[in-house]
Amino acid sequence: MFKTQPQSTLDSSRDDLAVQIQHLNYFFGVGDLSKQVLFDISLELPKGQIVILTGPSGSGKTTLLTLAGALRRLQDGSLRVLGKELVGLGDRALVNVRRNIGFIFQAHNLFESLTASQNVEMAVELTGKFASKREQSVTMLSALGLADRVDYKPKSLSGGQKQRVAIARALVNHPKLILADEPTAALDKKSGRDVVTYLHNLSRQEGCTVLMVTHDNRILDVADRIINLVDGRLESDSTPNDFVQHKTQEALTEVSADMFIM
Ligand SMILES: Nc1ncnc2c1ncn2[C@@H]1O[C@H](COP(=O)(O)OP(=O)(O)O)[C@@H](O)[C@H]1O
Ligand SMILES: [Mg+2]
Repeated sequence: MFKTQPQSTLDSSRDDLAVQIQHLNYFFGVGDLSKQVLFDISLELPKGQIVILTGPSGSGKTTLLTLAGALRRLQDGSLRVLGKELVGLGDRALVNVRRNIGFIFQAHNLFESLTASQNVEMAVELTGKFASKREQSVTMLSALGLADRVDYKPKSLSGGQKQRVAIARALVNHPKLILADEPTAALDKKSGRDVVTYLHNLSRQEGCTVLMVTHDNRILDVADRIINLVDGRLESDSTPNDFVQHKTQEALTEVSADMFIM
């Protein structure tokens, strides 16, 4: 059946986990306008796992991703990322946590005045490796199928190509954790498949953990695990096979209910 994976009740940090969330609640706004968007989330992401986060629009997926990425401050609960408890960390320490995370968001935010390679090189510069930045950038862009586009500016690239430059920028420093918000939404079928295959290989080769929000049913098979978030609550946590079976079952039930009404 469709079951929830057991969650550890231990309070201590665990070396085998990239992300450990315990009893997280999150609210937007204050006072009378306060609105709770995440409810008692407990979740463990083992190192090296590829996890797909899915659920209806407005269910809190992006909020959860930005919390795990140390881009928002936690209000209630505990959140350990790559071994560090984020609660109580100062701005500087949060920046250090973010250095080990690769972010792929929907808005690619490339610098229009820089070439594809220069956009990626900026990320390498943050690590202080100036000498090899061009080489690293070109290697990553080539791996994403952009070898012949490295010196193009964003305005000369298609939407899918721009998205792949943003992905190259997120991955060029070999982050331990990759947080991706609908990374294939702007891509055609083949480019989308290439990107997830690349993420999959990277995860297998380097042991990095991937948490990816997607509605793209064509890429569910890449995941080790699928988590479904509904109205700010974890509704299910299952393997891709169980997830697809459950969805098919739901669809069949709806169809037979419709037939009954007719
Ligand atoms: N900056 C914000 N201020 C107030 N409410 C927000 C803000 N961002 C998101 N929300 C609300 O929080 C809920 C969850 O949003 P979000 O995490 O973006 O969901 P999802 O990514 O699953 O579509 C939604 O009801 C949304 O309207
Ligand atoms: Mg979202």
